[in-house]
Amino acid sequence: MNTGLPSEKQKFLFLKTFGCQMNENDSDRIAGLLKKMEYTVIDNPAAADIIILNTCSIRYNAQHKVYSATGRFRKLKELNKELIIGIGGCVAQQEGEGLFKKIPYIDIVFGTHSIHKLPELIDSVILRRKKAIAVEFADAIDLEDSFDYPLEGSSVKAFVTIMRGCNNFCTYCIVPYVRGREASRKSSDILAEVRRLAENGIKEVMLVGQNVNSYGNNGSDISFPSLLKAVCMVAGIERVRFMTSHPKDMSQELIEMFAAAPKLCRYIHLPIQSGSDRVLKMMRRGYTRDGYLSKIDKVKKICPDISVTTDIIVGFPGETDRDFEDTMDIIKRVEYDGIFSFNYSPRPETEASRYDGQVSDTVRRERLAFLQAFQKEVTLRKNKAMTGQVKEVLVEGKSKAGHSDELTGRTGCNRIVNFCGRRDLIGRVMPVRIEDGYSNSLKGSVVLEQKKVDGGLQKRMIYDA
Ligand code: 5AD
Ligand code: SF4
Repeated sequence: MNTGLPSEKQKFLFLKTFGCQMNENDSDRIAGLLKKMEYTVIDNPAAADIIILNTCSIRYNAQHKVYSATGRFRKLKELNKELIIGIGGCVAQQEGEGLFKKIPYIDIVFGTHSIHKLPELIDSVILRRKKAIAVEFADAIDLEDSFDYPLEGSSVKAFVTIMRGCNNFCTYCIVPYVRGREASRKSSDILAEVRRLAENGIKEVMLVGQNVNSYGNNGSDISFPSLLKAVCMVAGIERVRFMTSHPKDMSQELIEMFAAAPKLCRYIHLPIQSGSDRVLKMMRRGYTRDGYLSKIDKVKKICPDISVTTDIIVGFPGETDRDFEDTMDIIKRVEYDGIFSFNYSPRPETEASRYDGQVSDTVRRERLAFLQAFQKEVTLRKNKAMTGQVKEVLVEGKSKAGHSDELTGRTGCNRIVNFCGRRDLIGRVMPVRIEDGYSNSLKGSVVLEQKKVDGGLQKRMIYDA
């Protein structure tokens, strides 16, 4: 990696991230690599020397957003010929060289396996004044330098990539084409990263991968439950989460971890996609609705207070009213704490994009609106039902809306809680009494402890103890 260019003036990076937690984690790596090249991250693109967009192509709308966002930077390039514009992530991987034709004023295209090559690509653009591209798939994931990035410092939680790619080829999904085949990182590298995060004050890690349950099936040295156990043992880490799980790969051993590992948050995101066996088969999901429900029952038996969320696709080709009713039936039975629901979007290369019986736009929209209105009520009811309970909240920072002394954090079950408190609570796990529930968050107050002082009772903040 050649980063030895003379640094005459301060250089600025503007980085915009689209899409999932994998992309957010990749963006941390991008920012880290550029910090090593002496770039400072800023939030004003007009002052940037380099603009990088880390993109998502999971649905048409996500991809379209990237094109319109890039369009806004065209003027900046006209005003400043030295400005470098780079596009990375899933759209870059999908379009490759063709992206230079679609957006002629960009300088760099780098794919999902080429983040570690970014410094080289940037140097090459600066030195040779030529466009640069890297979109090859790599077999290995353990590219040490690409995971060795400086930390942001103040943050209390972090993503840790444990595997990437997917071998499942669900018929609607573009991920296997833009992220490649499954590859797992060595457990020793993951644990070293978690330890480094803990040493830097991180209290919560989210282990991320397209299909974390198949960690261990593809070249890694230990199983996913063993990795979870080891991560939970890292000193300083108070909470561990993981995302995303595939129902077909969720083993009994993993389910039992919810009882065995106190640091593992009582929260699971388990995408069902559809409640109809016919549609699940056409999607090639590898489980039936009964199989899925029995896994949910097992999880709830071991951990009755677990919070469960899911993903649902509405309007998959051939989905009938009856199939949609089956989906609504599952939603009613499970009573999810939250649902991420999407209109089916045909993606290039995927099998389902060639299926007959594409559902009309109007029907898709109607079904999605119906589902979302139903779930909004459920989520609100469940959030309100938490009123009066005391929950442990990891305080993440100042709340964006609300009063200036309002803080925000999350419960173990992943709900956002806003409450008033001093700034020095940031980074601590606090008991918070829930006072009200809304559709996207909870309101609470820090629990006061009663303590006997000189024969009388004195109330004080429990964190002063
Ligand atoms: N159309 C709509 N939603 C999709 N997802 C993945 N591919 C598509 C598609 N082609 C959804 C799935 C997945 C989530 C990340 O995005 O629900 O779990
Ligand atoms: Fe896409 Fe299916 Fe792989 Fe998930 S499991 S990333 S939906 S192909």
